[in-house]
Amino acid sequence: MAQTPPKSTESDADPRRHAPATLRNRDAILAVLPQAFGSACRILEIASGTGEHAAHCAPALAKAAKGGFIWYPSDWDAANLPGIDAHAKAAMADSGQPGCIAPAQRIDVSQADWTPHWTQPGQAGPIEAMFCANMIHIAPWAAAEGLFSGAGRLLPQGGTLTLYGPYRRNGLHTAPSNAEFDASLQSRDPSWGVRDLEGEVVPLAQRSGLSLHKIETMPANNLIVIFRKD
Ligand SMILES: C[S@@+](CC[C@H](N)C(=O)[O-])C[C@H]1O[C@@H](n2cnc3c(N)ncnc32)[C@H](O)[C@@H]1O
Repeated sequence: MAQTPPKSTESDADPRRHAPATLRNRDAILAVLPQAFGSACRILEIASGTGEHAAHCAPALAKAAKGGFIWYPSDWDAANLPGIDAHAKAAMADSGQPGCIAPAQRIDVSQADWTPHWTQPGQAGPIEAMFCANMIHIAPWAAAEGLFSGAGRLLPQGGTLTLYGPYRRNGLHTAPSNAEFDASLQSRDPSWGVRDLEGEVVPLAQRSGLSLHKIETMPANNLIVIFRKD
């Protein structure tokens, strides 16, 4: 079954939040990211949530890159930022990969002309690739529109935007559990819902100058979809 919205937990003393689904999907996501990112070393993550994907993936990718790799986490919800930073701090210390995750920044992709700000001296520079997990179905369609228009503005030619999550394919759900998940999302907010890859998302990408590059089937009826800036 596709991921349910995270039930994050935190204690008073430790701002780190935990979304149990990230423990189940993080290794499968990490396995695909090297082919999604290629030689890209400056990665902007949209909708980082708890920050657990950044904490798990960035140190491993930095180790493989042997220098210069930096993952920029972000989220619309300012309340998520301290937890993202706390996960990042622990992960960088544990892995011996200092500086591979930048301080989290607040980005609401549904705002017109959103732009990242670069918070570490010496690390300013254009992003080379983007990653976004489990946002476009748990946000109004305007968030998907803003995500793709931002990717079209910010990515260099050949740069990739990688999405993870559940999708309909050619108008149809890929599993009964995804149909149930879609109904539950829409009952919570009618502007949410599992998006149709061919009917909605690919045409949106094309309007922003990105083409569908690759689809990877993931566990629990999810996909990784890689778009490339033309
Ligand atoms: C279901 S959570 C996914 C979090 C994380 N990527 C994961 O897979 O565990 C959805 C996230 O999207 C963020 N979000 C919703 N609308 C957004 C927007 N307009 N811009 C950026 N982030 C947004 C929420 O704050 C939340 O952290």
